[in-house]
Amino acid sequence: MTEYRPETRAVHVPHPVVEGSRPISVPIYQTSGFAFDDPAVMAEGMTAPDGAYVYGRYSNPTVRALEEAVAGLEGGVAAVAAGSGMGAINTVLLGLLKPGDHLIAQRALYGGTAAMLNELVARFGVEVSYVPEHDPAALRAAARPETKLVYLETIANPMCRVADLPAMCATARELGLVSVVDNTFATPLLCRPIEHGADVVVHSTTKYLSGHSDVLGGMAVFADDALYRKLWHFAVELGPSPDPFAAWLTLRGMQTLALRMERHCGNARLLATRLAGHPAVAAVHWPGLPTHPSYEVAGKLLPDFGGVFSFDLAGGRAAGERFMRSVRLALVAPSLGGVETLILHPATTSHRSLGPDELARHGIGEGTVRVAVGIEHPEDLWADFEQALA
Ligand SMILES: Cc1ncc(COP(=O)(O)O)c(C=O)c1O
Repeated sequence: MTEYRPETRAVHVPHPVVEGSRPISVPIYQTSGFAFDDPAVMAEGMTAPDGAYVYGRYSNPTVRALEEAVAGLEGGVAAVAAGSGMGAINTVLLGLLKPGDHLIAQRALYGGTAAMLNELVARFGVEVSYVPEHDPAALRAAARPETKLVYLETIANPMCRVADLPAMCATARELGLVSVVDNTFATPLLCRPIEHGADVVVHSTTKYLSGHSDVLGGMAVFADDALYRKLWHFAVELGPSPDPFAAWLTLRGMQTLALRMERHCGNARLLATRLAGHPAVAAVHWPGLPTHPSYEVAGKLLPDFGGVFSFDLAGGRAAGERFMRSVRLALVAPSLGGVETLILHPATTSHRSLGPDELARHGIGEGTVRVAVGIEHPEDLWADFEQALA
């Protein structure tokens, strides 16, 4: 390089060669593309996910490390990362469906996904039927010749209904349908839907997998290599690819997933149980409580029941609003799965796209409060909730 002038040397900086040791942390390959000695290798790299790294929208080593880590945890063959959970969900839906196709979804769904299904109907000529998440007979009855896909959530947002994945995925398979399961709330530590027959698992890695409320991300994990390759090609054209730094933050967060999940679940158990016995509370929706409609299904499917629950105050909407204004430690904020306890009002935020009838069908009341329990000391959280209820 010394033969070049300073202007050129400032552009072409020599790269360090690491030999005889290796970095402990996955390096951040913060580069949009890769350079080649052999142009043929570059051309080949653009045709398949296992070729050389060429361009960030196709693949990146840091993003690939995250894809392989999540695919490994879920028991899938490979994964496609996206810049958000909705990016991953839409890559799968748009990549698998075409006008005239029919999709069957469970009724209780994350609000963004529910809104996207309405878009598919209104703008893309896809038809959608809804069935209860625990009812394979209803799934069978809803299937038509043009049905392509079944869409489920392991633990649904925000009322925490648990899908009967073994029964629903087995029926989907018998009917020749691709089953897609959003496993965001459960994480692969509580449930691995592919082991129960799912074809595709989607995640908002924004939540528990990254775990620190500092990064957005999504992931689609595939049980089957052919389906993975089809969706990889589609994702390259659609362009949901995440930034390498976002992938690195997610990888870093994931290293403590097991520790955090244990605490999230334990804290949720304590708060949900105590709230259920509090005179100001009308109902608590957490699948670890015997009063929850999914208690039995959850007991068979999950070793623990997650860190999110909802509850209804006996005083309805006014009491719900008073509670939201009175908490001091919990933050009134969107999202979930981070280390801080967050609360929100689903009817006006995460599920605002649903009309009053649809909200009622989901069991979401005017005064329902959703709690995404963090990893603080549980007694500090309970003290905060108690003073807010008072
Ligand atoms: C269950 C579930 N799936 C998907 C999403 C969408 O994820 P993102 O916000 O990362 O796009 C969310 C967001 O809250 C969610 O709760």
